[in-house]
Amino acid sequence: MLAPQAATLQSRRAMYSNNRLQIGLFGANCSSGRAVTLVPERWSGNWPDNKRLAQMADDAGIDFMLPIGRWKGYGGDTDYQGTTLETITWATGLLSCTRRITVFGTVHALIFNPVVAAKEMVTADHIGEGRFGLNIVVGWNEGEFDMFGVDPGQHGDRYDYAQEWIDVIKMIWSDKENFAFKGKYLDMKGVRGKPKPYGNTRPLIMNAGASPTGQAFAIRNCDAFFLQASRTSLAETQAKVRVAQDAARAQGREIGCYSVGVVTCRPTKKEAEEYFHHCIVEHADWSAVDGILALKNISPQTVPMDEYLMKRSQYAQGMGGLPIVGDPDHVANQLADLSQAGLTGIGVSLVNYADELPYFCDEVIGRLERMGIREKPKLSATA
Ligand SMILES: Cc1cc2nc3c(=O)[nH]c(=O)nc-3n(C[C@H](O)[C@H](O)[C@H](O)COP(=O)(O)O)c2cc1C
Repeated sequence: MLAPQAATLQSRRAMYSNNRLQIGLFGANCSSGRAVTLVPERWSGNWPDNKRLAQMADDAGIDFMLPIGRWKGYGGDTDYQGTTLETITWATGLLSCTRRITVFGTVHALIFNPVVAAKEMVTADHIGEGRFGLNIVVGWNEGEFDMFGVDPGQHGDRYDYAQEWIDVIKMIWSDKENFAFKGKYLDMKGVRGKPKPYGNTRPLIMNAGASPTGQAFAIRNCDAFFLQASRTSLAETQAKVRVAQDAARAQGREIGCYSVGVVTCRPTKKEAEEYFHHCIVEHADWSAVDGILALKNISPQTVPMDEYLMKRSQYAQGMGGLPIVGDPDHVANQLADLSQAGLTGIGVSLVNYADELPYFCDEVIGRLERMGIREKPKLSATA
C-alpha cells in the first residue's frame, strides 16, 4: 500500500494531487448507479464490479469515489438502487485494495450512533492511510426512516441534530478524552475514541444540502460542498460557487465546491446522443422515476405540467445531475468550463462505470491533462 504524502487537512482536501478539477465516481455502490434505466448493461453495483472499478480508477488517477447512503430501493421494473453496499464498509474494502484514491462513506447522522460511526470511520481511515472522507447526510426519504423505526420528527430539525452529531464526531477525533457532551438531542458522558484519525488530522467532510438550512450546515462544518450546477448558465454556477465560498470565508473557513454530472461520452456527438436517448428516454425505468417523484411530492397535481415533465426527464437522466453528453472534445470542454466557473471537483456517473471508464480516462482526462487542468497520475505509487 502506498502511504500518501503527509495526511494534513490540506493534502486531504487536495486529495493528494495538484488537479485543478478533481474528478470522482458517484453512486457505484448502488444497483443501476444513477441511471434510471432498463438497459441490460446497467451497473450491477456488486462487490466484484466495485473492486474492479476502484482499482481501475485508482490506476487512472481518478480522485475519489462517492457512494450513496441508500437503505431502500425505489421500486419500478428494476427496483432502482434496490441493492446497495453499506458505505463505510464498502469504503473500507476499497481503501484496502487501492493506493491513492479518496473514498467516502455516506453516513445518515440520524441512524448512526456517533461513537460507533466515529470509530468505524477512523478504522477506514487507518486502512486507507488518510484517504477516507465523510459525506454527512440527514436523509429525506421517510420510508427509510420508517424502516429504522426512527421518527425524524422526534429530532426536530434534522440539521440541528446533525450539528450535534458532527460536533461529537469532531471531538472524538480530536485529542479530547473522557469528555461529556450535552446538547438538545445528545447527552453523552465519558466519551473517548482511540485511535485518532490517520496522521493526527481528521477526514475530509462533505455535505450536499440544498435547502438554506442544509447549505448553512455545509458552510459551517464541511470542507467540500456539493451544489447543483446550472444547466443553462456557467455564470450562474460561478455565482453559486462565489456565494458559498464568500459565506464560508465570512466564518473564517475555506470550502471547495463540487457538483454532480452524468456523462455519456462516445467518439462522435451523434453516437453519444443516440446512446443517451436509448438509455434514458426509450429505455428509462419510468415506473421507478415516477416513484422517486412521488416521494418528493412532484406530480402534475403539485407542480405545473411543464415543470413536472422537466423534472421527470431530469430524474431519469441521473437523479438531477448535470448531463454531459458528447464526443471527448465536448465533454472535456464542458468539464474545463466548470473548473473555470470555480468548481473544485465533480462526481460523475456512467451507465456502466467499468465499461465506460477506460474510454473516459483515455480521451477526456487525457485532454484535461493537456489543458493543464489535471496532472498525470504519479507513477511512483507502487504497492
Ligand atoms: C452529491 C450528493 C450526494 C448525496 N448523497 C445522498 C445520500 O447518499 N443519501 C441521502 O439520503 N441523500 C443524499 N443526498 C441528498 C443531500 O444530502 C440533501 O439532503 C439534498 O440535497 C437536499 O437538501 P436538504 O437536505 O438541504 O433539503 C446527496 C446529494 C448530493 C448532491
